[in-house]
Amino acid sequence: MKKKEVKKVLTRKSLEGPYQSPKGMRDLIGEEVYNYQGFFEKAAEVAIYYGFTPIETPILEQEEVFVRGVGEGTDIVDKELYTLRTKGGDKLALRPEFTASVMRAYLEHGMQSLPQPVMLYSSGTLYRHDKPQRGRYRELRQFNLEILGSEKAINDALVIKVFISILSEAGIKEIQLKLNSIGDKDCRPNYRRELVNYYRKNLGKVCVDCIERFKTNPMRLLDCKEEQCQEIKSKAPDSVSFLCEPCKRHFKEVLEYLEGMDIEYTIDHTLVRGLDYYTRTVFEIASKQKEGSDIMSGLSLGGGGRYDYLGKVLGSNKPVPAVGVALGADRIISSGEKLTPRIVKKPKVFFIQLGYEAKLKSVNVIEILREARIPLAHSISKDSLASQLAMAEKLQIPFTIILGQREVIDNTVIVRDMENRSQKSISLKELAVYLKEIKTVAKK
Ligand code: HAM
Repeated sequence: MKKKEVKKVLTRKSLEGPYQSPKGMRDLIGEEVYNYQGFFEKAAEVAIYYGFTPIETPILEQEEVFVRGVGEGTDIVDKELYTLRTKGGDKLALRPEFTASVMRAYLEHGMQSLPQPVMLYSSGTLYRHDKPQRGRYRELRQFNLEILGSEKAINDALVIKVFISILSEAGIKEIQLKLNSIGDKDCRPNYRRELVNYYRKNLGKVCVDCIERFKTNPMRLLDCKEEQCQEIKSKAPDSVSFLCEPCKRHFKEVLEYLEGMDIEYTIDHTLVRGLDYYTRTVFEIASKQKEGSDIMSGLSLGGGGRYDYLGKVLGSNKPVPAVGVALGADRIISSGEKLTPRIVKKPKVFFIQLGYEAKLKSVNVIEILREARIPLAHSISKDSLASQLAMAEKLQIPFTIILGQREVIDNTVIVRDMENRSQKSISLKELAVYLKEIKTVAKK
Protein backbone atom coordinates (compact mmCIF):
# COMPACT_ATOMS: atom_id res chain seq x y z
CA MET A 1 0.00 0.00 0.00
CA LYS A 2 1.31 3.46 -0.83
CA LYS A 3 2.00 5.89 2.03
CA LYS A 4 -0.90 8.13 0.98
CA GLU A 5 -3.38 5.23 0.95
CA VAL A 6 -2.22 4.03 4.39
CA LYS A 7 -2.84 7.51 5.74
CA LYS A 8 -6.33 7.51 4.18
CA VAL A 9 -7.25 4.18 5.78
CA LEU A 10 -5.90 5.29 9.16
CA THR A 11 -7.84 8.52 9.04
CA ARG A 12 -11.01 6.68 8.07
CA LYS A 13 -10.55 4.26 10.95
CA SER A 14 -10.12 7.08 13.44
CA LEU A 15 -13.49 8.44 12.36
CA GLU A 16 -15.24 5.26 13.44
CA GLY A 17 -16.79 5.21 16.93
CA PRO A 18 -16.70 5.54 19.84
CA TYR A 19 -16.94 9.24 19.08
CA GLN A 20 -15.91 12.21 21.19
CA SER A 21 -17.30 15.72 21.35
CA PRO A 22 -15.48 18.14 19.01
CA LYS A 23 -12.17 19.55 20.25
CA GLY A 24 -12.65 22.46 22.66
CA MET A 25 -16.34 21.61 23.19
CA ARG A 26 -17.74 19.73 26.18
CA ASP A 27 -20.79 17.85 27.33
CA LEU A 28 -22.25 19.34 30.48
CA ILE A 29 -23.81 16.66 32.65
CA GLY A 30 -26.02 16.79 35.77
CA GLU A 31 -24.51 19.15 38.36
CA GLU A 32 -22.54 20.97 35.66
CA VAL A 33 -25.75 21.89 33.85
CA TYR A 34 -27.24 23.09 37.14
CA ASN A 35 -24.15 25.22 37.80
CA TYR A 36 -24.59 27.01 34.48
CA GLN A 37 -28.36 27.35 34.93
CA GLY A 38 -27.83 28.67 38.46
CA PHE A 39 -25.29 31.23 37.28
CA PHE A 40 -27.36 32.45 34.31
CA GLU A 41 -30.48 32.66 36.48
CA LYS A 42 -28.70 34.74 39.11
CA ALA A 43 -27.03 36.96 36.49
CA ALA A 44 -30.41 37.58 34.81
CA GLU A 45 -31.98 38.41 38.17
CA VAL A 46 -29.30 41.04 38.88
CA ALA A 47 -29.62 42.44 35.33
CA ILE A 48 -33.42 42.68 35.62
CA TYR A 49 -33.12 44.63 38.90
CA TYR A 50 -30.88 47.11 37.09
CA GLY A 51 -33.45 47.59 34.31
CA PHE A 52 -32.21 45.21 31.59
CA THR A 53 -34.65 43.12 29.53
CA PRO A 54 -33.84 39.90 27.70
CA ILE A 55 -33.04 39.33 24.05
CA GLU A 56 -32.25 36.09 22.24
CA THR A 57 -30.60 36.23 18.84
CA PRO A 58 -29.92 33.31 16.48
CA ILE A 59 -26.73 31.31 16.92
CA LEU A 60 -26.06 31.93 13.21
CA GLU A 61 -25.77 35.35 11.59
CA GLN A 62 -24.82 36.57 8.14
CA GLU A 63 -21.01 36.32 8.15
CA GLU A 64 -20.85 40.03 7.24
CA VAL A 65 -22.34 41.02 10.61
CA PHE A 66 -19.18 39.80 12.35
CA VAL A 67 -16.67 40.56 9.60
CA ARG A 68 -17.82 44.17 9.49
CA GLY A 69 -18.88 44.44 13.12
CA VAL A 70 -16.00 42.83 15.01
CA GLY A 71 -13.60 43.75 12.21
CA GLU A 72 -11.17 42.21 9.75
CA GLY A 73 -7.69 42.05 11.23
CA THR A 74 -9.02 40.84 14.61
CA ASP A 75 -8.24 37.29 15.75
CA ILE A 76 -11.94 36.57 16.23
CA VAL A 77 -12.70 37.23 12.56
CA ASP A 78 -9.43 36.27 10.86
CA LYS A 79 -8.68 33.07 12.76
CA GLU A 80 -11.59 32.03 14.93
CA LEU A 81 -14.84 32.41 12.98
CA TYR A 82 -16.76 29.20 12.17
CA THR A 83 -18.33 29.86 8.79
CA LEU A 84 -20.61 27.84 6.56
CA ARG A 85 -22.36 28.17 3.24
CA THR A 86 -26.02 27.10 3.22
CA LYS A 87 -27.56 25.02 0.43
CA GLY A 88 -29.15 28.29 -0.75
CA GLY A 89 -25.69 29.89 -1.00
CA ASP A 90 -25.89 32.21 2.04
CA LYS A 91 -22.64 32.77 3.93
CA LEU A 92 -23.38 32.37 7.61
CA ALA A 93 -21.19 32.28 10.72
CA LEU A 94 -21.64 30.84 14.20
CA ARG A 95 -21.73 33.78 16.60
CA PRO A 96 -18.33 34.36 18.28
CA GLU A 97 -19.86 37.06 20.56
CA PHE A 98 -23.18 38.82 21.22
CA THR A 99 -22.52 42.52 20.66
CA ALA A 100 -22.69 42.62 16.85
CA SER A 101 -25.82 40.42 16.86
CA VAL A 102 -27.55 42.60 19.48
CA MET A 103 -26.76 45.75 17.48
CA ARG A 104 -28.03 44.06 14.30
CA ALA A 105 -31.28 43.16 16.11
CA TYR A 106 -31.60 46.69 17.58
CA LEU A 107 -31.41 48.19 14.09
CA GLU A 108 -33.53 45.52 12.38
CA HIS A 109 -36.40 45.99 14.85
CA GLY A 110 -36.32 49.80 14.83
CA MET A 111 -35.43 49.99 18.53
CA GLN A 112 -34.07 53.47 17.85
CA SER A 113 -37.67 54.70 18.06
CA LEU A 114 -38.07 53.31 21.60
CA PRO A 115 -37.19 55.47 24.62
CA GLN A 116 -33.37 55.45 24.82
CA PRO A 117 -31.24 53.84 25.99
CA VAL A 118 -32.37 50.27 25.34
CA MET A 119 -30.87 47.91 27.92
CA LEU A 120 -30.58 44.29 26.87
CA TYR A 121 -29.11 41.14 28.37
CA SER A 122 -28.45 37.82 26.67
CA SER A 123 -26.72 34.55 27.39
CA GLY A 124 -25.76 31.34 25.67
CA THR A 125 -23.11 29.55 23.68
CA LEU A 126 -20.60 31.18 21.35
CA TYR A 127 -18.02 29.66 19.01
CA ARG A 128 -14.38 30.62 18.51
CA HIS A 129 -11.94 28.38 16.66
CA ASP A 130 -9.14 29.13 19.09
CA LYS A 131 -6.42 26.85 20.47
CA PRO A 132 -8.09 25.11 23.46
CA GLN A 133 -6.23 25.63 26.75
CA ARG A 134 -6.93 26.52 30.39
CA GLY A 135 -10.12 28.62 30.46
CA ARG A 136 -10.29 28.74 26.67
CA TYR A 137 -12.86 26.71 24.79
CA ARG A 138 -14.10 26.61 21.23
CA GLU A 139 -17.65 26.48 22.52
CA LEU A 140 -17.84 29.05 25.30
CA ARG A 141 -20.66 30.65 27.26
CA GLN A 142 -21.19 34.27 28.16
CA PHE A 143 -23.66 36.45 30.01
CA ASN A 144 -23.85 39.70 28.08
CA LEU A 145 -25.17 43.20 28.81
CA GLU A 146 -25.60 46.04 26.34
CA ILE A 147 -26.88 49.61 26.78
CA LEU A 148 -27.69 51.05 23.34
CA GLY A 149 -28.61 54.60 22.38
CA SER A 150 -26.80 56.74 24.95
CA GLU A 151 -23.29 58.15 25.12
CA LYS A 152 -23.59 59.14 28.78
CA ALA A 153 -20.67 58.05 30.97
CA ILE A 154 -23.04 56.81 33.67
CA ASN A 155 -23.82 53.83 31.42
CA ASP A 156 -20.15 52.83 31.21
CA ALA A 157 -20.01 52.84 35.00
CA LEU A 158 -23.37 51.06 35.24
CA VAL A 159 -22.34 48.02 33.15
CA ILE A 160 -19.17 47.74 35.26
CA LYS A 161 -21.25 47.92 38.44
CA VAL A 162 -23.66 45.20 37.25
CA PHE A 163 -20.70 43.06 36.19
CA ILE A 164 -19.21 43.36 39.70
CA SER A 165 -22.57 42.61 41.39
CA ILE A 166 -22.96 39.42 39.34
CA LEU A 167 -19.40 38.33 40.20
CA SER A 168 -20.12 38.98 43.85
CA GLU A 169 -23.32 36.87 43.71
CA ALA A 170 -21.17 34.12 42.17
CA GLY A 171 -18.82 34.36 45.17
CA ILE A 172 -16.01 36.27 43.43
CA LYS A 173 -15.32 39.34 45.54
CA GLU A 174 -11.57 39.80 45.19
CA ILE A 175 -11.30 41.35 41.77
CA GLN A 176 -9.11 43.65 39.76
CA LEU A 177 -10.75 46.10 37.36
CA LYS A 178 -8.51 47.46 34.62
CA LEU A 179 -9.66 50.35 32.56
CA ASN A 180 -8.45 52.50 29.66
CA SER A 181 -9.76 54.97 27.12
CA ILE A 182 -8.73 54.50 23.51
CA GLY A 183 -10.35 57.67 22.19
CA ASP A 184 -12.62 58.22 19.21
CA LYS A 185 -12.34 58.95 15.47
CA ASP A 186 -11.00 62.43 16.18
CA CYS A 187 -8.16 61.62 18.55
CA ARG A 188 -7.33 57.97 17.90
CA PRO A 189 -5.60 58.57 14.50
CA ASN A 190 -3.05 60.85 16.22
CA TYR A 191 -2.39 58.26 18.87
CA ARG A 192 -2.16 55.48 16.33
CA ARG A 193 0.36 57.46 14.31
CA GLU A 194 2.48 58.02 17.40
CA LEU A 195 2.29 54.32 18.31
CA VAL A 196 3.28 53.25 14.80
CA ASN A 197 6.25 55.69 14.83
CA TYR A 198 7.38 54.33 18.18
CA TYR A 199 7.13 50.68 17.11
CA ARG A 200 8.74 51.37 13.73
CA LYS A 201 11.88 52.36 15.63
CA ASN A 202 11.72 49.15 17.68
CA LEU A 203 10.64 46.58 15.07
CA GLY A 204 13.96 44.75 15.35
CA LYS A 205 13.25 43.90 19.00
CA VAL A 206 9.66 42.57 18.85
CA CYS A 207 8.23 39.09 18.16
CA VAL A 208 7.03 37.91 14.73
CA ASP A 209 3.37 38.30 15.71
CA CYS A 210 4.00 41.92 16.60
CA ILE A 211 5.59 42.55 13.21
CA GLU A 212 2.35 41.22 11.70
CA ARG A 213 0.22 43.34 14.05
CA PHE A 214 2.31 46.37 13.11
CA LYS A 215 1.15 45.90 9.51
CA THR A 216 -2.48 44.91 10.09
CA ASN A 217 -3.75 46.26 13.43
CA PRO A 218 -1.14 48.36 15.30
CA MET A 219 -3.37 48.94 18.37
CA ARG A 220 -3.12 45.19 19.06
CA LEU A 221 0.66 45.58 19.53
CA LEU A 222 -0.23 46.53 23.11
CA ASP A 223 -2.00 43.20 23.59
CA CYS A 224 1.18 41.14 23.13
CA LYS A 225 1.99 38.77 26.01
CA GLU A 226 5.45 37.69 24.71
CA GLU A 227 8.24 38.24 27.24
CA GLN A 228 10.56 39.86 24.66
CA CYS A 229 7.99 42.57 23.84
CA GLN A 230 7.11 43.62 27.41
CA GLU A 231 9.73 46.31 27.86
CA ILE A 232 8.96 47.95 24.51
CA LYS A 233 5.26 47.77 25.36
CA SER A 234 5.70 49.37 28.78
CA LYS A 235 7.42 52.40 27.21
CA ALA A 236 4.92 52.81 24.36
CA PRO A 237 2.94 56.08 24.16
CA ASP A 238 -0.37 55.85 26.06
CA SER A 239 -3.75 56.64 24.51
CA VAL A 240 -5.06 58.68 27.46
CA SER A 241 -2.43 61.39 26.82
CA PHE A 242 -3.80 61.76 23.28
CA LEU A 243 -7.50 62.05 24.11
CA CYS A 244 -9.41 64.97 22.60
CA GLU A 245 -11.40 67.21 24.96
CA PRO A 246 -14.78 65.36 24.68
CA CYS A 247 -13.09 61.95 25.17
CA LYS A 248 -11.08 63.27 28.12
CA ARG A 249 -14.27 64.62 29.72
CA HIS A 250 -16.09 61.34 29.11
CA PHE A 251 -13.29 59.30 30.65
CA LYS A 252 -13.08 61.64 33.65
CA GLU A 253 -16.81 61.23 34.22
CA VAL A 254 -16.59 57.43 34.03
CA LEU A 255 -13.85 57.49 36.69
CA GLU A 256 -15.86 59.87 38.88
CA TYR A 257 -18.91 57.61 38.71
CA LEU A 258 -16.79 54.58 39.59
CA GLU A 259 -15.31 56.41 42.55
CA GLY A 260 -18.81 57.48 43.59
CA MET A 261 -19.80 53.81 43.53
CA ASP A 262 -16.72 52.85 45.59
CA ILE A 263 -15.35 50.74 42.77
CA GLU A 264 -11.58 50.39 42.76
CA TYR A 265 -9.81 50.44 39.41
CA THR A 266 -6.41 50.72 37.83
CA ILE A 267 -5.80 52.48 34.55
CA ASP A 268 -3.96 50.13 32.23
CA HIS A 269 -2.49 51.95 29.23
CA THR A 270 -1.87 48.68 27.42
CA LEU A 271 -5.53 47.59 27.53
CA VAL A 272 -6.92 47.86 23.99
CA ARG A 273 -9.07 44.65 23.71
CA GLY A 274 -9.19 42.37 20.72
CA LEU A 275 -12.27 43.65 18.91
CA ASP A 276 -12.27 46.55 16.45
CA TYR A 277 -15.50 48.26 17.40
CA TYR A 278 -14.34 49.86 20.66
CA THR A 279 -14.20 53.61 21.22
CA ARG A 280 -13.37 55.49 24.40
CA THR A 281 -13.82 53.24 27.49
CA VAL A 282 -12.46 49.67 27.51
CA PHE A 283 -12.20 47.49 30.61
CA GLU A 284 -11.58 43.98 31.90
CA ILE A 285 -11.94 42.26 35.25
CA ALA A 286 -9.74 39.43 36.51
CA SER A 287 -9.89 37.52 39.77
CA LYS A 288 -7.40 38.77 42.38
CA GLN A 289 -7.15 35.43 44.21
CA LYS A 290 -3.58 34.29 44.65
CA GLU A 291 -1.97 32.14 41.93
CA GLY A 292 -2.75 28.51 42.60
CA SER A 293 -5.80 29.13 44.81
CA ASP A 294 -7.87 29.95 41.75
CA ILE A 295 -7.65 27.89 38.60
CA MET A 296 -8.69 30.91 36.54
CA SER A 297 -6.18 33.28 38.13
CA GLY A 298 -4.67 35.72 35.66
CA LEU A 299 -7.42 35.16 33.10
CA SER A 300 -9.98 37.78 32.34
CA LEU A 301 -13.42 36.90 33.76
CA GLY A 302 -15.07 39.36 31.42
CA GLY A 303 -14.59 42.56 29.56
CA GLY A 304 -16.27 45.19 27.52
CA GLY A 305 -16.37 48.78 26.53
CA ARG A 306 -18.00 51.48 24.48
CA TYR A 307 -18.67 50.99 20.78
CA ASP A 308 -20.16 54.22 19.43
CA TYR A 309 -19.59 53.45 15.71
CA LEU A 310 -20.80 49.86 15.46
CA GLY A 311 -24.36 50.97 14.63
CA LYS A 312 -23.15 52.90 11.58
CA VAL A 313 -20.85 50.07 10.51
CA LEU A 314 -23.90 47.76 10.52
CA GLY A 315 -25.96 50.13 8.38
CA SER A 316 -27.63 52.66 10.69
CA ASN A 317 -27.98 56.14 9.22
CA LYS A 318 -27.85 57.66 12.70
CA PRO A 319 -25.06 57.04 15.22
CA VAL A 320 -25.93 54.58 18.00
CA PRO A 321 -23.64 55.27 20.96
CA ALA A 322 -23.50 52.15 23.10
CA VAL A 323 -21.59 50.33 25.81
CA GLY A 324 -21.61 46.76 27.09
CA VAL A 325 -19.85 43.89 28.77
CA ALA A 326 -19.59 40.13 28.44
CA LEU A 327 -18.96 37.84 31.39
CA GLY A 328 -17.12 34.60 30.66
CA ALA A 329 -19.48 32.10 32.29
CA ASP A 330 -17.09 29.13 31.97
CA ARG A 331 -14.33 30.90 33.85
CA ILE A 332 -16.61 32.44 36.49
CA ILE A 333 -18.29 29.10 37.23
CA SER A 334 -14.90 27.36 37.55
CA SER A 335 -13.59 29.93 40.04
CA GLY A 336 -16.69 30.93 41.97
CA GLU A 337 -19.30 29.34 44.21
CA LYS A 338 -21.78 27.03 42.58
CA LEU A 339 -25.27 28.49 42.33
CA THR A 340 -28.29 26.18 42.31
CA PRO A 341 -31.06 26.99 39.86
CA ARG A 342 -34.54 27.61 41.25
CA ILE A 343 -36.04 24.51 39.61
CA VAL A 344 -33.70 22.22 41.51
CA LYS A 345 -35.10 21.45 44.96
CA LYS A 346 -33.50 19.32 47.62
CA PRO A 347 -35.73 16.24 48.07
CA LYS A 348 -37.62 16.27 51.38
CA VAL A 349 -39.09 12.77 51.12
CA PHE A 350 -37.94 9.48 49.63
CA PHE A 351 -40.62 7.33 48.03
CA ILE A 352 -40.41 3.53 48.43
CA GLN A 353 -42.72 1.04 46.69
CA LEU A 354 -43.04 -2.69 47.35
CA GLY A 355 -44.58 -5.20 44.95
CA TYR A 356 -46.06 -5.07 41.49
CA GLU A 357 -49.36 -3.32 42.40
CA ALA A 358 -47.49 -0.63 44.31
CA LYS A 359 -45.09 -0.04 41.41
CA LEU A 360 -48.10 0.43 39.14
CA LYS A 361 -49.54 3.05 41.48
CA SER A 362 -46.27 4.85 42.23
CA VAL A 363 -46.56 7.41 39.47
CA ASN A 364 -49.89 8.52 40.98
CA VAL A 365 -48.16 9.17 44.30
CA ILE A 366 -45.28 11.04 42.61
CA GLU A 367 -47.84 13.15 40.72
CA ILE A 368 -49.76 14.01 43.94
CA LEU A 369 -46.53 15.29 45.48
CA ARG A 370 -45.41 17.10 42.33
CA GLU A 371 -48.71 18.96 42.19
CA ALA A 372 -48.27 19.90 45.84
CA ARG A 373 -44.68 21.00 45.05
CA ILE A 374 -43.08 18.63 47.52
CA PRO A 375 -39.69 17.64 46.09
CA LEU A 376 -39.06 13.91 46.33
CA ALA A 377 -36.51 11.29 45.37
CA HIS A 378 -37.27 7.68 44.48
CA SER A 379 -35.92 4.65 42.75
CA ILE A 380 -38.96 2.95 41.26
CA SER A 381 -36.78 0.62 39.24
CA LYS A 382 -35.61 -1.05 42.49
CA ASP A 383 -37.66 -3.80 44.19
CA SER A 384 -36.35 -4.65 47.66
CA LEU A 385 -37.18 -2.62 50.78
CA ALA A 386 -33.58 -2.86 52.03
CA SER A 387 -32.01 -1.38 48.88
CA GLN A 388 -34.55 1.45 48.77
CA LEU A 389 -34.13 2.25 52.47
CA ALA A 390 -30.35 2.20 52.05
CA MET A 391 -30.66 4.77 49.29
CA ALA A 392 -32.89 7.01 51.45
CA GLU A 393 -30.27 6.81 54.25
CA LYS A 394 -27.45 7.57 51.85
CA LEU A 395 -29.22 10.65 50.50
CA GLN A 396 -29.93 11.73 54.09
CA ILE A 397 -33.55 12.46 53.33
CA PRO A 398 -35.51 13.05 56.57
CA PHE A 399 -38.77 11.23 55.63
CA THR A 400 -39.69 8.23 53.52
CA ILE A 401 -43.13 7.25 52.29
CA ILE A 402 -43.75 3.56 51.77
CA LEU A 403 -46.37 2.10 49.47
CA GLY A 404 -46.87 -1.69 49.91
CA GLN A 405 -49.56 -4.18 48.78
CA ARG A 406 -51.78 -3.37 51.71
CA GLU A 407 -51.50 0.42 51.29
CA VAL A 408 -52.45 0.04 47.62
CA ILE A 409 -55.77 -1.57 48.70
CA ASP A 410 -56.36 0.97 51.49
CA ASN A 411 -55.38 3.99 49.44
CA THR A 412 -52.82 4.93 52.07
CA VAL A 413 -49.05 5.18 52.49
CA ILE A 414 -46.76 4.80 55.48
CA VAL A 415 -44.81 7.94 56.38
CA ARG A 416 -41.60 7.15 58.24
CA ASP A 417 -39.43 9.58 60.13
CA MET A 418 -35.90 8.43 59.30
CA GLU A 419 -34.40 9.99 62.40
CA ASN A 420 -36.53 8.47 65.18
CA ARG A 421 -37.86 5.58 62.98
CA SER A 422 -41.50 6.31 64.00
CA GLN A 423 -44.10 5.74 61.32
CA LYS A 424 -47.73 6.50 60.60
CA SER A 425 -50.34 5.42 58.06
CA ILE A 426 -51.78 8.37 56.10
CA SER A 427 -54.50 8.36 53.43
CA LEU A 428 -53.35 9.40 49.96
CA LYS A 429 -55.86 12.25 50.03
CA GLU A 430 -54.27 13.78 53.11
CA LEU A 431 -50.67 12.97 52.22
CA ALA A 432 -49.64 16.36 50.79
CA VAL A 433 -51.14 18.34 53.67
CA TYR A 434 -49.64 15.97 56.25
CA LEU A 435 -46.15 16.15 54.70
CA LYS A 436 -46.26 19.93 54.56
CA GLU A 437 -47.25 19.98 58.23
CA ILE A 438 -44.51 17.65 59.46
CA LYS A 439 -41.93 19.41 57.30
CA THR A 440 -42.83 22.68 59.02
CA VAL A 441 -42.71 21.00 62.42
CA ALA A 442 -39.36 19.43 61.53
CA LYS A 443 -37.94 22.85 60.56
CA LYS A 444 -38.87 24.27 63.97
P1 HAM B 1 -14.32 39.21 24.94
O1 HAM B 1 -13.23 39.87 25.73
O2 HAM B 1 -13.96 38.62 23.64
O3 HAM B 1 -15.44 40.32 24.76
O4 HAM B 1 -15.00 38.09 25.83
C1 HAM B 1 -15.49 38.37 27.12
C2 HAM B 1 -15.13 37.26 28.09
O5 HAM B 1 -15.55 35.99 27.56
C3 HAM B 1 -13.64 37.07 28.33
O6 HAM B 1 -13.17 37.98 29.30
C4 HAM B 1 -13.58 35.64 28.83
O7 HAM B 1 -13.91 35.58 30.21
C5 HAM B 1 -14.67 34.97 28.01
N1 HAM B 1 -14.07 34.26 26.86
C6 HAM B 1 -13.65 34.78 25.69
N2 HAM B 1 -13.17 33.82 24.88
C7 HAM B 1 -13.27 32.67 25.57
C8 HAM B 1 -12.95 31.29 25.27
N3 HAM B 1 -12.42 30.93 24.09
N4 HAM B 1 -13.22 30.34 26.22
C9 HAM B 1 -13.77 30.68 27.41
N5 HAM B 1 -14.10 31.95 27.74
C10 HAM B 1 -13.85 32.94 26.84
C11 HAM B 1 -16.58 40.13 24.04
O8 HAM B 1 -17.02 39.05 23.71
C12 HAM B 1 -17.34 41.43 23.80
N6 HAM B 1 -18.49 41.12 22.94
C13 HAM B 1 -17.77 42.05 25.10
C14 HAM B 1 -18.63 43.26 24.95
C15 HAM B 1 -19.97 43.33 25.15
N7 HAM B 1 -18.21 44.46 24.55
C16 HAM B 1 -19.25 45.27 24.49
N8 HAM B 1 -20.34 44.60 24.84
